[in-house]
Amino acid sequence: MKAVVYTKYGLPGVLKQMEIDKPRPKNNEILVKIHAATVTSGDVRLRGSDFPPLFWLPARLILGLFKPKKTILGHELSGVVEEIGKEVTKFKVGDEVFGTTTMLKTGSYAEYICLPEEWKHGLVGLKPVNLNFQESAALPIGGMTALFLLEKANITKEKNILIYGASGSVGSYAVQLARHFGSSVTGVCSTSNLEMVKSLGAEKVIDYKKEDYASLKKEFDIVFDAVGKTTKSKAKNILKKGGVFVSVKMLTHERTEHLLKLKDLAETGVLKPFIDKVYPLEEIVSAHEYVDKGHKKGNVVIRIKE
Ligand SMILES: NC(=O)c1ccc[n+]([C@@H]2O[C@H](COP(=O)([O-])OP(=O)(O)OC[C@H]3O[C@@H](n4cnc5c(N)ncnc54)[C@H](OP(=O)(O)O)[C@@H]3O)[C@@H](O)[C@H]2O)c1
Repeated sequence: MKAVVYTKYGLPGVLKQMEIDKPRPKNNEILVKIHAATVTSGDVRLRGSDFPPLFWLPARLILGLFKPKKTILGHELSGVVEEIGKEVTKFKVGDEVFGTTTMLKTGSYAEYICLPEEWKHGLVGLKPVNLNFQESAALPIGGMTALFLLEKANITKEKNILIYGASGSVGSYAVQLARHFGSSVTGVCSTSNLEMVKSLGAEKVIDYKKEDYASLKKEFDIVFDAVGKTTKSKAKNILKKGGVFVSVKMLTHERTEHLLKLKDLAETGVLKPFIDKVYPLEEIVSAHEYVDKGHKKGNVVIRIKE
């Protein structure tokens, strides 16, 4: 099968397309023919081994000190179940699925992958029926991170929330989810993304290139840092007494119930993944070069099956 492999850390050119053996499912696994994957900001960070100085050594000890242990990147996918292991009960051949590869030994930049049917590492569920494969692949990581952090912040009706970095993947889902929960949303983004963030449901938008959000009134219940580029001390300037700050820099966990909730919310029209660009697998290097710049809008998808 075709796969994109990297055997050393570095610039996007370290990603090489090659032929490798097709995997075979163990008893508890499903074999998925991948239709689409994504390039997340996490993928490009792993490829470039781009970690803050304090985390650099611990990260390299886990990921591979001199070269990556997991040589196929890609944290999200959608596709069709082609084969099931003997013990699999939840999926059948032909099911259309979506999910993540977090903590698995291999990623989704490939034509096939084996996933455990029950959560162990990686998550898999039936894909939303109304989303195509490219949209479905772009939902799990950004969507689950936004949902996890909004729940951590105790989002409820009539809260006033500011989402910093509302145009990224996590930010674009956080805006839609916060509106769904009945909150009033102010999105912070750059000039070129103002219309996009409004279209996702933000009632107010602030251009961070022209205005410092810290000068707003102290009227927010929640500040959600969706790009890891602001701080709690800055957010305090606009948080009411008892207000909460959450950030993508916090530890989050993937949960099956969150993946299933995202499916439901997509199917009821609450959530729609924002797709910036779609690249074929053969152009994975260009896709990484684009995401490396740090300005993607929503999600970047890799088309694996035509
Ligand atoms: N904790 C977790 O489990 C978890 C999960 C997923 C992601 N993350 C982390 O979350 C962060 C965001 O990831 P992502 O994929 O959603 O987005 P991303 O692709 O990293 O962010 C891109 C967006 O952020 C905007 N942006 C860049 N600099 C900004 C700034 N200084 N102020 C405001 N907006 C700015 C960009 O718009 P402009 O064009 O305006 O620059 C662009 O639209 C990453 O650091 C990622 O590693 C964490």
